[in-house]
Amino acid sequence: MAAVRRGSWPWGSLLGLLGLVSAAAAAWDLTSLRCNFGAFCECDFRPDFQGEQPRAPGPERPADRRALGPRGALVVKALKAFVQDPAPTKPLVLSLHGWTGTGKSYVSSLLAHYLFRGGLRSPHVHHFSPVIHFPHPGHLERYKKDLKSWVQGNLTACSRSLFLFDEMDELAPGLIEVLRPFLGPSWVVYGTNYRKAIFIFISNTGGEQINQVVLEAWRSRREREEIRLQELEPVISQAVLDNPNHGFWRSGIMEEHLLDALVPFLPLQRHHVQHCVLNELAQVGLEPRDEVVQAVLDSTTFFPEDEQLFSSNGCKTVASRITFFL
Ligand SMILES: *[C@@H]1O[C@H](CO)[C@@H](O)[C@H](O)[C@H]1NC(C)=O
Repeated sequence: MAAVRRGSWPWGSLLGLLGLVSAAAAAWDLTSLRCNFGAFCECDFRPDFQGEQPRAPGPERPADRRALGPRGALVVKALKAFVQDPAPTKPLVLSLHGWTGTGKSYVSSLLAHYLFRGGLRSPHVHHFSPVIHFPHPGHLERYKKDLKSWVQGNLTACSRSLFLFDEMDELAPGLIEVLRPFLGPSWVVYGTNYRKAIFIFISNTGGEQINQVVLEAWRSRREREEIRLQELEPVISQAVLDNPNHGFWRSGIMEEHLLDALVPFLPLQRHHVQHCVLNELAQVGLEPRDEVVQAVLDSTTFFPEDEQLFSSNGCKTVASRITFFL
C-alpha cells in the first residue's frame, strides 16, 4: 500500500475503459454538492469532487484531480449519482481488477479522499487486508462473525461508510459470503439504511486476462483507447468465477449480480512508467530529468519477452527506485 502515499499514477489510463461514453467536463461540476443539503453532512461524509486539490493535507494527499483525465469521469459520475441520491436502491459495490502496480489502491484512496474529509483516515473508511485482519484460515468462523458485526455496527453508526477489501484473491474462502446480504437492495435492518454504503473490492484476479486483451489489441494495431469495457467485463467475470482463491468464490455475489461495476486497470506501458517518474519527481519538488527517467526505465522489467510492452510491476516501485538515480 506504500504507493498510495504518492500521486504517481497515470490516471488517464487507469480507470480505463469506463470513459467510453466521453463524459464531458460537466461531470466535474460538483461544487453545488458540498453539503448543500443535510443528507451529505452525515458523519464526515463530504463529497467534493470539485476542489482544485483534494482537501486532506498530509502524506496521503493524492495528486491533482485533473490527472484523473476524462476517461475516469464515468466512475466519478456513477459515484456522484450515488452520493447525490438521498435514498439509493442498493449500496454501491465496485470491484477493481488489474495487474500489480496499475493503481487500484491509489484509485481507491483517491475515492476515499473525494468522499470523506479524512480520506483513508476517516473513521468511516474501513480498510480490510487479509494478512492484517484475517491471517489464520483456521479462524474462519470467528472472522465471519467479526466481519459481519463490524459492518453492521459501523453502518449503524454511519450509513455512509466505505468498506475497502484489499487482496480479495488472498482472502479465506467463505468469508465474504457474510457480506452478501449487505450488498443487495433489500436490506434495511434494525431501522438502518444499509443502502447508502460503498463497498470496494480489490484484486489482481483478471489481470492476466486484461493484459492478454490489451496485448492482442496492440498486435492488431488497435488503440488501447478503443478497447471496450464490454470486451473486458466478461473475461474478468470469468477469471473471478474460475478462481477458488478469490473471496467471491461461491459467495453468490457474482451470481446474483450484486456488483455495480467491474473496473479494469490496464497494464502500464513504457510511456506510463515515464509519466509516473515525472510525476514522482514533481511530487518531491524536482525538475524533470531525462537521465533519471531513463535510468528508471532501464531498471524496469517489461513483458512479454518478445514485445517488451508492459511493466511487470506497473509503477509500483517507481517511487522507491527513483531515489537511487538522483
Ligand atoms: C467498525 O469497524 C472496525 C474495523 O474497521 C471495528 O474495529 C469496529 O469495532 C467497528 N465498529 C463497530 C461499532 O462495530
